[in-house]
Amino acid sequence: MRPLNIAILGCGTVGGGVAKILTEQKELLSKRAGREINLKVIAELNPPAAISRFNLDKKYFAGGGDTVSREDASKNIQNILEAEDIDVVVETMGGKGNFVHDTCLGVLQHGKNLVTANKALLAERGADIFKEAEDKKLQLGYEAAVCGAIPIIKGIKECFTGDIINSVCGIFNGTSNYILTQMQNKGLDFSEALKLAQKEGYAEADPTLDINGGDASHKLILLIKLAFGMEVTMDQLSITGIQNITKNDMDFAREINSSIKLICMARRENNQIFAEVRPMAVKNDNTLSSVNYAVNAVRLDNKYSDTHFFIGKGAGSSETAMSIVSDIVFIARHGDVETYNEKNNLVLGDSKKIAFPYLVSFKTKNLPGTTGLIATEIGKQGINIETVSHNRFSGETADFSVETESCEFDKIEKAIAEIKKINNDLLLEDPKILPILY
Ligand code: HSE
Repeated sequence: MRPLNIAILGCGTVGGGVAKILTEQKELLSKRAGREINLKVIAELNPPAAISRFNLDKKYFAGGGDTVSREDASKNIQNILEAEDIDVVVETMGGKGNFVHDTCLGVLQHGKNLVTANKALLAERGADIFKEAEDKKLQLGYEAAVCGAIPIIKGIKECFTGDIINSVCGIFNGTSNYILTQMQNKGLDFSEALKLAQKEGYAEADPTLDINGGDASHKLILLIKLAFGMEVTMDQLSITGIQNITKNDMDFAREINSSIKLICMARRENNQIFAEVRPMAVKNDNTLSSVNYAVNAVRLDNKYSDTHFFIGKGAGSSETAMSIVSDIVFIARHGDVETYNEKNNLVLGDSKKIAFPYLVSFKTKNLPGTTGLIATEIGKQGINIETVSHNRFSGETADFSVETESCEFDKIEKAIAEIKKINNDLLLEDPKILPILY
């Protein structure tokens, strides 16, 4: 069989990692694939940096290894798209702008298989890219786009085809998990933990997408599509980040034997999918509560085979690159085949209707009767209270939390609205409402 020829577009952190594994392990990968896997060409704006960072031979670079202009880089990419002998194009440029989108679509339109780690592109602008792969019966590998090295795409696509997935949930963002772990373990507040994450290289200089739940949502959208055959947009998803989690929230969670985690969840109930991304208080008995630092985890609850956990590295150069390489080996073994693209007639349910027990934290004026009034209004909504924490006093203010039994979110909201009606000055800020995950 002739070699499987690979082109890489973009040789930064992930693309460089792919080139490194493909060159270092060429013989082994070819043996595993049953045919030669051949890195043919890399299109990159700054080859000298990639060559020294990843110890690569300049022969792989379009243009011979010298720095290239944007115009020449575009020409190099166009040449790769049109080259007869390229079988797989790895897109590791990143971004979700028109150039990257059109390039990825162009790869498939030119009859080549596409492998990418680009979750933002696939989740927000991927509909026509998935469709093109399906129409052309080409492979679209995106294992690396969801939780880095964790094999959740192949897990769902290849290993649970005999099952029905009822729920996908987990910790899909390592940066926010690192920050929450440091807050929990070291008693840091959010901004201190963020600074530490940046210092240790776990958070970008601009950490917005990691802390506001955007990056985790991209991954959830891709898993909802795969597990449930349903298209969901960012606008439709209920997304809350970790920016407003405080030391007090951490302490209240600890008091009820829980840790706060940024949880992505999508659950099938009849013909509805309930999905959301938000911080939750995860009880210590739940495996997700002990997934710490930058580690990711995906939990599947299936109709026939029950519960499965996938835990591992969700980011990093060699970790993410490894997933891309495993997609390449998969393509080498299986060739161009119809992309798995199940479509189901499901609708997105109102996430406020998911019943959870809740941990509700209050910052109030330090006045007699406050705890009683708040507990009474919660009770009036038919919500059973499990525990009320100690009050934490600080000058004129008191913080305390209420752990409820399972109820719908809008009942908690109704109770808070009633408390505000009775005394609009009592609550010093909007209470924090965290679902509790057992
Ligand atoms: N920045 C992400 C994380 C990895 O912290 O998990 C890439 O999605």
